[in-house]
Parts: sequence; C-alpha cells; structure tokens
Amino acid sequence: MQEGDARALGALFAAGVEALRAAGIASARLDARILLQAATGCRPEDVILEPTTEIAAGPAAVFRALLDRRAGHEPVSRILGRREFWSLSLELGPAALDPRPDSETLVAAALEASDSDAPGCVLDLGTGSGCLLIAVLSERPRMRGIGIDCSPAAVRIAASNARRLGMADRTSFLAGDWVAPIRGKFDLILCNPPYIETGALGELAREVRDFEPRAALDGGPDGLAAYRALAPTLGKLLAPQGMALFEIGHTQADAAKGIFINSGFTIHGLHADLAGRPRCLAVGLGMVQIENRAWFSGDS
Ligand SMILES: C[S@@+](CC[C@H](N)C(=O)[O-])C[C@H]1O[C@@H](n2cnc3c(N)ncnc32)[C@H](O)[C@@H]1O
Repeated sequence: MQEGDARALGALFAAGVEALRAAGIASARLDARILLQAATGCRPEDVILEPTTEIAAGPAAVFRALLDRRAGHEPVSRILGRREFWSLSLELGPAALDPRPDSETLVAAALEASDSDAPGCVLDLGTGSGCLLIAVLSERPRMRGIGIDCSPAAVRIAASNARRLGMADRTSFLAGDWVAPIRGKFDLILCNPPYIETGALGELAREVRDFEPRAALDGGPDGLAAYRALAPTLGKLLAPQGMALFEIGHTQADAAKGIFINSGFTIHGLHADLAGRPRCLAVGLGMVQIENRAWFSGDS
C-alpha cells in the first residue's frame, strides 16, 4: 500500500485488507481492522457506517507502517505490544512469549486445585510475560508468588505486568536457571516450558519462528529436555499436598507422564485444551501406584 492512496476510511481499510491478503495473511480482514483502529482511533463499526470519513495524513501513514509489519508476518499482538490473557491485558516485549489461549487450560487446572480464599505460595517456572502467575493470583487474592525466567528481559516484563495489574506486593520475579535460586515449599508450581523439538523449529509458522524468543520454544531434540531437567529437583519444592502443573505438547502426554513417574511423582490428572487435546499434566507427591505396587515418594 503506497502513500498518496485514497484516505477515506473505507478505501484505506479495503486497501489494507488487499495488502495483507497479498502477503499471505489468512486473517487479513480482522488484522486490518484491528490495526486501523490502533492507528486512527476509529470504532470497529466506522468502516461500515462511515466509510467516507477522511483520515488525516499522519494516522494514515501510521496505518501503512503497521500493515507493512504485519505483511512481514509480525503478529498483531507483537505490533500492538499487548495481549489479552485470562481477560487481563498484558504488556509484551521481544523477550517474552506471546501467551497462548491454550495456556489458559493450565490456569483453569491450577484454580481447580486450590480454594478461592486459601492462602498459599505459587512458583511459576519460565514465567515469560508472567501470564500464568498473574492470572492465578488474580483469582486467588490471598496467594503470593514467585516467577523465574532465564531471560532477565522477560523478568522485567513480568514484573511490570504484575505492577500494572496491582500485584506488585504479592509477587517477585527472579532471573535464573529453573529452580536453582529457589528455596521453600510451594502449594502450586506452574510451568509452561519450551517443548518444541529442535528439529521442528524451522517448520513453525513465520509468526512464531521469526518473532518468538528461541528460549521459549526449543525443548531439545525430543522436546522433553525441560521436563527431564525439572523432574528430579522439583519434589523438594512442592508442599506435601501441593500440585505441579505442566503445559505439554499435545503428543507428549505419555512421555511426560513417564518422566515424572520415574522421579517419584503421582499423576493427578491430564487436562485437555478447548480442542480436546491433552495440554496440562498435573503431578504431586505421595502414593504412586504402578503394577499393583505402591510406595511413598518425595519428602512427604
Ligand atoms: C513457553 S515459554 C512460557 C512463558 C509463559 N510462562 C507463558 O506461558 O506464556 C517458556 C519460558 O521458559 C523460559 N526458560 C527456558 N529455559 C529456562 C531455564 N533454563 N530456566 C528458566 N527459564 C527458562 C523461557 O525464557 C520462556 O520465557
């Protein structure tokens, strides 16, 4: 789309849709509408109701610049720098994964595993934008939590989100390697680790491959490296009746279960996402039942 093109709202929108379609963007209409709103401040219905409204040169140029970024397959959420997750508006930055709707499955499982007025401590491993911890704490006003991430820049984004959403006094965020800097016992441990096979990273959509931080995606040769790293050390951080919830790739349920059972955990459940695919594995300490044998594990 060129400068000097028509600046009537309807024509601007139509040209934007065309530009995105030409770039192979499947959601061209929706994305053009969102970007037009962001650039001009128009209401969603104005494109239909007031298509002849003239847009000033400045906002029209901003719209063209946003379209160029989307045509380069940058996701709309990254262009706008924010994402809705669990009905909370989160700030994004290049170092933090753009939270996925699938991850709300883990939040729902964490809420199912805890009482609404219960006090308690939550640990969020690989916190990214802080979305999981912040969403759980938004529903559990007496709980407090720690988020950790290997990316100091992600930690800053998470802390800023917690501050903006009024949770600064109930959260702290640390940069570090998984559980290395952590002491204490937690009632809930949340973890959405990188779980994509290294060899599959090149096949991801450009929106993911080119714009998500690699540390948020790369789960090693079989995608299971983080579960293997965490399973042997997690028991000492989980309260006796606590629960750890892991997001998994939808083909990884059996392999992930095996890793946690081998480290002495009990499998408490497997939660499906909205498409019915296994997405969140819940594990705890305690009685493990395998082939009619039973024993206690962990430090309970
Ligand atoms: C899939 S992203 C999840 C981000 C966020 N929790 C979410 O659900 O959107 C995985 C996160 O784990 C972090 N991570 C990867 N390896 C790590 C490690 N060894 N220690 C701590 N965090 C790590 C990444 O930086 C990334 O933020």
